[in-house]
Amino acid sequence: IVMNQTVFVSNRLTVSVQKGAEGLKLVPSVGGLATGLSSVSTGDRPPLWVGWSGVAQEDLPEEEHQLIREQLQRDHNAIEVPLSQEEMDLFYSGFCNDTIWPLFHYFPTFTEYVSKTWKAYQEINQRFFDVLADVMEDDATVWVHDYQLMLLPGLIKKKFPHAQVGFFLHIPFPSFEMFRLLPSREAILEGLLGADLIGFHTYDYARHFLSSVRRLLGFDHSMGIIRTRNRAVKVDVFPMGIDWNRFLSAGELPAVKEVRSMIDLRYAGQKLILSVDRLDYSKGIPTRIRAFRRLLEEYPEYVGTATLLIIVSPSRESVPRYMELKREVDELVSDINGRLSTLNWVPIHYQYQTASFEELSALYRRADVLLVTPLRDGMNLIAKEYLAARTDEQGVLVLSETAGVARELSEAILVNPSDLDGIADAINTALKQAREEQTHNMKAMRNRLQRLTVQYWAQEFLDKLAEMKQLQAEHR
Ligand code: G6P
Repeated sequence: IVMNQTVFVSNRLTVSVQKGAEGLKLVPSVGGLATGLSSVSTGDRPPLWVGWSGVAQEDLPEEEHQLIREQLQRDHNAIEVPLSQEEMDLFYSGFCNDTIWPLFHYFPTFTEYVSKTWKAYQEINQRFFDVLADVMEDDATVWVHDYQLMLLPGLIKKKFPHAQVGFFLHIPFPSFEMFRLLPSREAILEGLLGADLIGFHTYDYARHFLSSVRRLLGFDHSMGIIRTRNRAVKVDVFPMGIDWNRFLSAGELPAVKEVRSMIDLRYAGQKLILSVDRLDYSKGIPTRIRAFRRLLEEYPEYVGTATLLIIVSPSRESVPRYMELKREVDELVSDINGRLSTLNWVPIHYQYQTASFEELSALYRRADVLLVTPLRDGMNLIAKEYLAARTDEQGVLVLSETAGVARELSEAILVNPSDLDGIADAINTALKQAREEQTHNMKAMRNRLQRLTVQYWAQEFLDKLAEMKQLQAEHR
């Protein structure tokens, strides 16, 4: 059979342009999306990607830019959407990350409402559409990703009524009381409803979306199917997974073994508590650090015997709030280390750099506790990576109840991410958990998740999207 064309659209492509000493080169973008989507079966027609290259247009000299475009197309089946520096400021730093991101993560006081950035958001969504429209076929299957492109499904449906359009939101969808604060709330919902299938990580996010649609647009739903003026749109839950086997088998890699022996030496005799995030205020990093200080105060047995290793990936450095947070974390770490370090012990090891896959794989295997305490998090895949890596069925996960992933991991030690004392107590409980109990919990969580990989997630979504064709015919 001849398969329809499949197109994936996301703000970032699976590879980003990086400027190095020898000019421009393509490097894999951070995140599990690329792996998951590259493994889905789309017959003998490989999927096409549409997205931004990661750098401003004016930073790409025309000749080199042409080479990059060719390379993207040839090696990655990808087509670039060009953005200028000013457009990035207004669209990416502005509406995406100063309006939608804070509001959807329940930070209404951080949220800026600026009509200029909303205008840019509309224009750039239109730009993505124009690039897409040039290459897409009438009956294509198009899967649009995340909060940067919420108007795109509507634009596609209008011009390509026979296309199958899917949308997945990778961040939380907030409760109506948050969402209603957005001046452009109706336009955003209308844009999303251009999709035939809208996916979320958890039932709560789906429920919040359905209630916003009902209260703002008046469209009711039954069993997750919304009846708009002229179509049926399905809303469903697809908790994203990871490339399980990659993290499972990493322990065998020579490079991972090498890092492992180094960290075994470095942390000999220490309880190691690990924390890994992008630098983001939604991640609750300062509270986590304070909770570790509280642990040392309340349980002095850990002074000199436990280390917090906190790895933070630089992120969105063009947004002022992120740089403020960087300063806060820097100061907090240096204050605690200054006060508590001894000649042979430093309480907090802090790395403001993205760790490599090999480093993370080795650290996951050594860490006694993984501390994941975001204030809000759409899913959090770090928790899942830790579980996959623990082939020895040891280790304890301390997890915030406001991360999407908590819905799947009731055997973790769940905490309220604002509760300093609660987190400190949870770390203590984790560090004292008996080996048998660790095995018991790890077994349960790993058994559940090993099947729910990112590959499974992507295939499920695309299968459900294909089913919608049938369903819509019946609803007409
Ligand atoms: C989150 C978002 C993604 C985004 C990623 C990195 O996971 O859901 O859409 O790509 O953060 O952020 P950045 O702004 O660097 O793309």
